[in-house]
Amino acid sequence: MADLSRDDLWRPRDVQRLAREFADLAAAELTRCAGPVRPADFVARTRRLLRHGATPNRLPAAARAVAEAGLHINHPRYMAQQVAAPIPAAALVESLVAALNQSIAVVRMSPAGTLVDRAVLAEFRRRFGYPAAAEGSLVPGGSFANLTALLAARAALAPQAWQHGGGRIAVLAGAQTHYSISRAAGILGLGTDAVFSIPMDGEYRTDAGRAHEAFAAARRAGYRKFVLIGTCGSTSTGSCDDLRALAAVARRERAWLHVDAAHGGAFAFSRRLRAKLDGIGRADSLACDAHKMLFMPLMAGLVLVRRGAFLRRAFSQHAPYLFRGSAAAPAPNVGEFTIACSQRFDALKIWLVEQAYGGAFLGSLIEGVCDAALAAYEHCRRSSILEPAHRPECNIFCFRLRHPPRSAAAADRLHAALEDAVNASGEAYISSTVLAGRRVLRIVVMNPRTTPRDTQAVMKLVERLAVGRRRR
Ligand SMILES: Cc1ncc(COP(=O)(O)O)c(C=O)c1O
Repeated sequence: MADLSRDDLWRPRDVQRLAREFADLAAAELTRCAGPVRPADFVARTRRLLRHGATPNRLPAAARAVAEAGLHINHPRYMAQQVAAPIPAAALVESLVAALNQSIAVVRMSPAGTLVDRAVLAEFRRRFGYPAAAEGSLVPGGSFANLTALLAARAALAPQAWQHGGGRIAVLAGAQTHYSISRAAGILGLGTDAVFSIPMDGEYRTDAGRAHEAFAAARRAGYRKFVLIGTCGSTSTGSCDDLRALAAVARRERAWLHVDAAHGGAFAFSRRLRAKLDGIGRADSLACDAHKMLFMPLMAGLVLVRRGAFLRRAFSQHAPYLFRGSAAAPAPNVGEFTIACSQRFDALKIWLVEQAYGGAFLGSLIEGVCDAALAAYEHCRRSSILEPAHRPECNIFCFRLRHPPRSAAAADRLHAALEDAVNASGEAYISSTVLAGRRVLRIVVMNPRTTPRDTQAVMKLVERLAVGRRRR
């Protein structure tokens, strides 16, 4: 190691070789379709590679060992969580993003990058029917988007809170709302007690018809300012709230309406599925993750606030060494309305993919993963062993045993054991969740290469394992 010189790291020939080797590794992973989804000996392998570490000569080999030991989410039978098998070009351009290493928070630090970032924002603004005055930024995911949107809501409803703290605001959200909403309430100092739950309807959507119950509870607790949360593409079941109905409730109650479309925002790219977002243009703010159903690698979240002034007002810090207004600046400083000071150039992958392949093509990929989930539903409808827990609205589908043990605890244990057995088999990777108080199995199809045959094969695998357990 003592012999290593700075030139060894930057010698063009060696850098090019390293680039090719890493690109080859990434290409193998991106196109993976055989072998176990997770190797059975992943713990032993990982411990072994941690013991061996890496040396300059074994850099790509060490990285390959890490890749091989773990979970292969690019495998078409990985269908566990909302993490995408990335579109290859989007994943491969990441090494350039890292090489450029431009923080797009400050326009002087990344003039071209900020313009590309603004072009991406403008595209999403248009797709969601937001006006030109809407403002937003890319953020590291839906949780940050939800937090940022609630900050903007607080700037609108309790402008003094930024300086003086406080700001008594109630957050009204469907019972299946993602936990990042109540986490944001905690972070903002609104307190998680300020979150009031709205019951779900039979399809696991926020029941707009019962929202008044939560508003009444919040009023009884002394709240007079409200943020109403809608979700398009709920985490557990992918259900989409009736956003028009929620917009009407928000207008009636004078509430700020935030739509968490982290999962379902991608529907804006699909002609067939776009209607699920009807009414989103009336929301005061929204969250959308391109790293979910737009198949971008992590991270690629987005927040938009319809009246952009509230987003700017939400962050009023001075940093004269960074933010200096200039008539010559081609774009605003994104950092003046984001949490981050260093902002990754995540816009590049989204812009490249959308430009190169087109929104309609992305829409067809989204429709494909939803169709694959629907095929699993159709299988369960006909199965004597499994039954659907709901009809999937998108690429998320929950199912359970038709004839579970009578005891709820035993049934929950059996479903958890089946999830573990599927994942240990290496043939597929699934997840589970709790619906109506009971554990159910869950698939999330996040790979455009996953076909209806794949999802049906996974249902058959679950059936085989369930029958095997019964025989024991
Ligand atoms: C509906 C919803 N909102 C927000 C989030 C959080 O997104 P992220 O994981 O990008 O922070 C998720 C994640 O699964 C989600 O499903």
